[in-house]
Amino acid sequence: MSLDSPDRTSLPRRTLLGGAGAAAAVAALTACGASSDAAGDAPQAQTPTTTARPGPDAEVVAAVADVPVGGGVLIEGRRLVLTQPTEGDFCAFLALCTHQGCNITSVEGDTIVCACHGSKFALDGTVMQGPAKRPLKAQPVEARGTDLVVG
Ligand code: FES
Repeated sequence: MSLDSPDRTSLPRRTLLGGAGAAAAVAALTACGASSDAAGDAPQAQTPTTTARPGPDAEVVAAVADVPVGGGVLIEGRRLVLTQPTEGDFCAFLALCTHQGCNITSVEGDTIVCACHGSKFALDGTVMQGPAKRPLKAQPVEARGTDLVVG
């Protein structure tokens, strides 16, 4: 299913295949997630960090309506996870597990899952269950009208 299709507001499952489109007015900048830039095996701080605003090359990756409040979606074609922990608060993460780099496999309710070795992440990207010790890598995201822009 393409996000450019007219029926993109109804998703049969919580996986999107990616897409692009025009952006509308900037609605809200959100800060969510946490950086996974730190190295090492010790557990990292779980405090979410503020992400920068999407840059001029940011792309529309989904509709606001595609991301459920208290849940999220995996956009396989872009290797992104989009979440909305609370209404209007959006987060974007690279869909790569911080344990050994497997692709994130799903978002189940309020949990981001890597099936390789069972790591689970909260909607803000922090580790809920290892073996991963570092949070998911956050990406700049904001809602622009009815679109979510990442980049
Ligand atoms: Fe995800 Fe190991 S790579 S749990």
